[in-house]
Amino acid sequence: MKPVTQAILQRQSTRGFLDKPVPGALVRELLEVASHAPSGGNLQPWRVHAVGGQALTDFVALMAVKLNAGEQESAEYPVYPGGLWEPLRTRRRRAGDQRYAALGATPAQDGMAVLSARNYRFFGAPVGLFFFLDRRVGASQWADLGMFLQSLMLAATDHGLATCPQAAWSNWPQTVRTLCHVGDDWVLFAGMSLGYADRGEPLNGYRTERAPLESFATFAGIDD
Ligand SMILES: Cc1cc2nc3c(=O)[nH]c(=O)nc-3n(C[C@H](O)[C@H](O)[C@H](O)COP(=O)(O)O)c2cc1C
Repeated sequence: MKPVTQAILQRQSTRGFLDKPVPGALVRELLEVASHAPSGGNLQPWRVHAVGGQALTDFVALMAVKLNAGEQESAEYPVYPGGLWEPLRTRRRRAGDQRYAALGATPAQDGMAVLSARNYRFFGAPVGLFFFLDRRVGASQWADLGMFLQSLMLAATDHGLATCPQAAWSNWPQTVRTLCHVGDDWVLFAGMSLGYADRGEPLNGYRTERAPLESFATFAGIDD
């Protein structure tokens, strides 16, 4: 199989990591590689903050205190449109059901609480990443950032690393911005867990499904 194809198919959102550090030089290399992602007008609108070591331990502890105290912040943006329609609604539910089944969580609310807490611990990953955009940018630059993220995840996969992109962090924009010394003029798009996958973690033991090609693509003049 072609190496890029292999990395695309191998990448999966990973929700349990080994207690094994990722060298800082490798984190830097991955981010540098990801910066070769395309962006409209070559604006390269992304901004990234990487956290590890004691800084990550302290931050995760701070988050635990806030969560236990029932604190909340205004979400940075709505991650999903309200009243999600078919077939998107079923896809989202199915992905959630797979996750809760892997956790063995019944009812689903228990699974949601467990997963929420693990999100805010970066699922035990040794590196946490945060991604920002200048608040003035538009839809095209959000797409650019998406390409940066996928490039980063594929480069990580290539090095035997695993990732989980996490829009969950956009629920904590003030706390994250304070950590990253970033002003209100930067939108927090998401976070990302980065590390070595724990293959024994049940949450890493299933794959999400994809709709068949014919359901999303049409063709004209494309002969086999
Ligand atoms: C922008 C973005 C945000 C996401 N946010 C979260 C998140 O906050 N927590 C989480 O566990 N997974 C999150 N995911 C992972 C998705 O649930 C996952 O990509 C999807 O179910 C497909 O599974 P796969 O990544 O294993 O192929 C996010 C993915 C993307 C692309």
